[in-house]
Amino acid sequence: MAKTPNDPRKEIDTLLDERRTFVPPKEFSDVANVSDPEIYDRAGADPEAFWESFAHELEWSEPWSKVLEWNPPNAKWFVGGKINASVNCVDRHVRTARRNKAALIWEGEPGDRRTLTYFDLYREVNAFGGVLKSLGVRRGDRVALYMPLVPELAIAMLACARIGAVHSVVFGGFSAESLRDRINDAEACVLVTADGGYRRGQVVPLKQMADDALRETPSINHVVVVRRQQHDPLPVTMQPDRDYWYHELMMKAPSACEPEEMDSEDLLYILYTSGTTGKPKGIVHTTGGYLVGTYATTKWVFDLKEDDVYWCTADIGWVTGHSYLVYGPLANGATAVMYEGAPDWPAQDRLWEIVERYGVTIFYTAPTAIRAFMRWGTKWPAKRDLSSLRLLGSVGEPINPEAWMWYYEHIGRQLCPVVDTWWQTETGAILITPLPGLTTLKPGSASHPFPGITAEIRTADGQVVTEGGGLLAITKPWPSMLRGIYGDPDRFIQQYWSQWSDGMYFTGDGAKLDADGYFWLLGRVDDVLNVAGHRIGTMEVESALVDHSAVAEAAVVGRTHEIKGQAIAAFVTIREGVSSSDELIENLKSHVVKKIGAIAKPDLILFASDLPKTRSGKIMRRLLRDIADGKTLGDTTTLADPSVVARLQEDYADEQG
Ligand code: PRX
Repeated sequence: MAKTPNDPRKEIDTLLDERRTFVPPKEFSDVANVSDPEIYDRAGADPEAFWESFAHELEWSEPWSKVLEWNPPNAKWFVGGKINASVNCVDRHVRTARRNKAALIWEGEPGDRRTLTYFDLYREVNAFGGVLKSLGVRRGDRVALYMPLVPELAIAMLACARIGAVHSVVFGGFSAESLRDRINDAEACVLVTADGGYRRGQVVPLKQMADDALRETPSINHVVVVRRQQHDPLPVTMQPDRDYWYHELMMKAPSACEPEEMDSEDLLYILYTSGTTGKPKGIVHTTGGYLVGTYATTKWVFDLKEDDVYWCTADIGWVTGHSYLVYGPLANGATAVMYEGAPDWPAQDRLWEIVERYGVTIFYTAPTAIRAFMRWGTKWPAKRDLSSLRLLGSVGEPINPEAWMWYYEHIGRQLCPVVDTWWQTETGAILITPLPGLTTLKPGSASHPFPGITAEIRTADGQVVTEGGGLLAITKPWPSMLRGIYGDPDRFIQQYWSQWSDGMYFTGDGAKLDADGYFWLLGRVDDVLNVAGHRIGTMEVESALVDHSAVAEAAVVGRTHEIKGQAIAAFVTIREGVSSSDELIENLKSHVVKKIGAIAKPDLILFASDLPKTRSGKIMRRLLRDIADGKTLGDTTTLADPSVVARLQEDYADEQG
């Protein structure tokens, strides 16, 4: 198969040939949290004891009686232990010298700034916990959070955790319909939102969008609205006895709210993510194991020290924000930077300005952002003092070696190790990653499973591959693993535990092991796209397109994109009597945005008189992917009507024309 210059696999192959490696700088490894290679063997020999040693560093109101109860695919970690996540993220630091340490350093896109110490956070979390209780939220109830990246989002999550409620954060870029579906699936009783949020100088009218969703969410009793805009507020309609301003409720809130004693296996949160069907899955995480996993990985992967200024650029609407902006760093008592807006607003050095202003030492972002920085040019980071940085991280998609090298040279000044961390919403915490004081880095490889984690490359029928490519499996349970799909136990088993007969966790990713035992992640092998580090199901986009009255049939595939990694290409067959036009293309794009959100907007829509199908009627996505990438087509002999492909290719050539 022909390869385009952007194909990450080609670059990986080239790099494997070059065998270019980077040993941790001595100054780094001398003082690193982990520098003893024996740790892998020790953790591998007794993973339960390994994880238990981290659990002992957290605060439990009652100890566990057993580390792990494993009835595949159901795991219970720290069985019988009682713990509260907000106590671990806030209260226990308030009792130490960290009381007045900055917990969150926040910057809004327009330039407003706020720092919350651990004691500030303690007061806010207590107060909002009391507010939620006064609105009738009880232990086990679900609370939906649809907010910009403001401190109140972290406060609301921790307040839910404090009173034993389950939070379900819905990314502020999702549409009203997506919000509605997630609220209904979880049967949330309260929604916390904001009047708006800032993105690239524009206001995203979150409350207005929430109002659209709330027309069809019978479980919601109350809505709390954070006033984000100080100067020029968007008009916001408040429904009496249902909607309340956050700041008004907080003024009347009690100052203390006792934390609920939660079982280690009680639900902490639900987070929806895309899968291979049209309906997103509510990934369920519980309390004890999740905290242990995020605590341990934050401490070791990011080599976190007391005086670090740590910045993960992810939005809390995604799992990276949950685990590495809220729970992991706060459980460690770290100082975390939080920035609301776009990286190029007002200029393309905004992130570097923030690094300079706060003396950020650890910086964690996505390859798509790094590729955008590359495009913008080195003059932007060069304008700023980045000398405080000592460690860089990457997450969300395969990082192409070129982007890795650029990051290493222009942001890390060739001094900072780069940790390429592989994990998923389902895994809760990082599973495959370098340890920065220990691992010899290969650009483009996430290197090795974290100590205590065992991963394998397998063929589709379960043979273990010791060198070469295949499917990525995780072979033993780990503390922060998902405990299910909310309300859908069958899908949980079918999706993750049915690929192989021995019931190992199937990640949905392809990967390759090189001769030195390094893992190279190659992207999804299922019908899930990774667009700018965000997971989008092809079926979701297809359902949104087919929902439009002009569309008879749609097939969605990923096409290679220089910055986003993948972009969405849609092949659409329109109904008889409808004529194709540029206007219809724009209408269809807007329709997808309305149904899902701007992140799912197709990059390319191509009208097709027919879609290529096998004789049994299955759409041949492989061919569509090749057409969308402008590649030479592979075997078409199984096609019912080979002329369909020729016509599609002609249409594509005209479109690109
Ligand atoms: O395909 C893998 C890719 O992102 C998927 C998980 O997406 P999500 O649940 O949204 O979580 C993203 C943040 C953890 C994985 O199945 N992925 C994530 N990290 C990497 C990656 N692919 C390659 N290298 C990575 N470091």
